Amino acid sequence: MNDFSKILELKNITKKFPGNLALKNTNFKAISGEIHALLGANGAGKSTLMNVLGGNIRMDDGEILINNSEINIKNPRDAALSKIAFVHQELSILPTMSVAENIFINKFPKRNAIFIDKKKIKEESKIILNKLGCNFSPGSTCEFLSTGEQQMVEIGRALAEDPDIIIFDEPTSSLTNNEKEKLFDVINNLKKENKVIIYISHFLDEVFRISDKLSIMRNGENVLTGYTNEFQVNDIIKAMLGSVKKIDKTKKNKSDKKVLLDVNNLNLENVLKNINFKIYEGEILGICGLLGSGRTELFRALIGLDKINSGKIKLNLSNEFFEIKPKKLHNYVGYVTEDRRNEGLWLNMSIIKNISISFLDIIANALGFINKKLELSYVNNSISNIDIKYTNENQNVDTLSGGNQQKVVFTRWIASDPLLFFLDEPTRGLDVNAKIDVLKISTEIVKNKKSVLIISSEYEDLIKICDRLLIMKRGEIINEISEKITEDKILMEISS
Ligand SMILES: Nc1ncnc2c1ncn2[C@@H]1O[C@H](COP(=O)(O)OP(=O)(O)OP(=O)(O)O)[C@@H](O)[C@H]1O
Ligand SMILES: [Mg+2]
Repeated sequence: MNDFSKILELKNITKKFPGNLALKNTNFKAISGEIHALLGANGAGKSTLMNVLGGNIRMDDGEILINNSEINIKNPRDAALSKIAFVHQELSILPTMSVAENIFINKFPKRNAIFIDKKKIKEESKIILNKLGCNFSPGSTCEFLSTGEQQMVEIGRALAEDPDIIIFDEPTSSLTNNEKEKLFDVINNLKKENKVIIYISHFLDEVFRISDKLSIMRNGENVLTGYTNEFQVNDIIKAMLGSVKKIDKTKKNKSDKKVLLDVNNLNLENVLKNINFKIYEGEILGICGLLGSGRTELFRALIGLDKINSGKIKLNLSNEFFEIKPKKLHNYVGYVTEDRRNEGLWLNMSIIKNISISFLDIIANALGFINKKLELSYVNNSISNIDIKYTNENQNVDTLSGGNQQKVVFTRWIASDPLLFFLDEPTRGLDVNAKIDVLKISTEIVKNKKSVLIISSEYEDLIKICDRLLIMKRGEIINEISEKITEDKILMEISS
């Protein structure tokens, strides 16, 4: 073992939140030069365990040891002093600051310093961005970057600390394939530099591809640790969840198709070009394409969040077609956005309030007073469709695990009962069973004459549930796949 080698051990870590024992005598060990994947269902305790190591959460009991000596981590600064860096599950970018400022935020001279050496942080940021294969400038303001690019800045911030131990909490969930590949190169280089790398992910293909070892958490305990190549996918899923759910796709009778939405020649300068398509009642229509192909932009334009230059949209309401302006169409659409945490949730409000907003008209009287009993029963009824792990309904959503927060957003939109659903990457960050729940809900929704438009970078999900797929490229719909949808077909279409 050379001088730079590190053994990190978390021993008997216990963490109790009000009404919830999140970590129960959890043990975890990782060593330098290895990529150690940390797996588990939504709410299993992965982020909590790593937040203890990163100094964001104080444990109630337990020990953290590096090379057999105990270290005391009370806050993120202590963690940084022990050369531990953390790429969080949720973005913590300051949108109005530059890329360079965001990367060096933890290193700004704190006291007695008036000037920040802007030139130096720009130069150093440039080196880090190069390492990450990013081609945006250190001077760019973060709010103009895509979610994936912001995630790369977040990773850059961790690298800037030159850590010995680096934790990635679901780093790829908003990255494009290209960005993902670059990140894997960076992680493999960190491995060569003999760092301890802890990698949380719900994507088992990634885990098999890059990790040397894995640990699986269930209900706050580490239930299995070993070399990745000694496991099969099924062993892992079983250890995580017990069993996996399945979806049956019901084939629709194509002859009685009724058009619900008819989009004609939609144009948005430099973004969307001559978009023409129809959605049928009861249909799940998938939209495929690479980043920048215009998928999210199409959703936004259809409901008036971005103003179109030309085009016509017609909606079928009770068997009559009406031309409808995007802003009006918004009233008929439940839009689950890509960036759910920021756009979809009131983080410091309860689960109840986040969901009951959807049926205020039912639970409030004419004067606006809410019938609490009715509210609770409606909320419970909605939650029962999707397995949300929570302690009680009055819990603030920011105390839920990442995956469970997403389930709350989804539940709210289902509860609001719109005619059309626009789902942008709805399964991102969800564990295997929760994914199936969301996909199943989508197939249930359309049985009630509603329609779903879904964007997903996980083609397997699209194949499982979609009736048709539209392929987008540079703002145009270039093709449609309606028969025998396969991954090969999709890949060929989007990359041709
Ligand atoms: N601040 C908090 N207050 C109360 N409970 C919390 C808090 N933070 C986490 N929890 C609870 O601790 C448990 C573990 O959550 P954690 O975020 O560690 O899960 P996770 O394994 O990271 O899941 P995911 O894959 O969904 O991100 C969950 O039941 C969660 O609700
Ligand atoms: Mg988490």
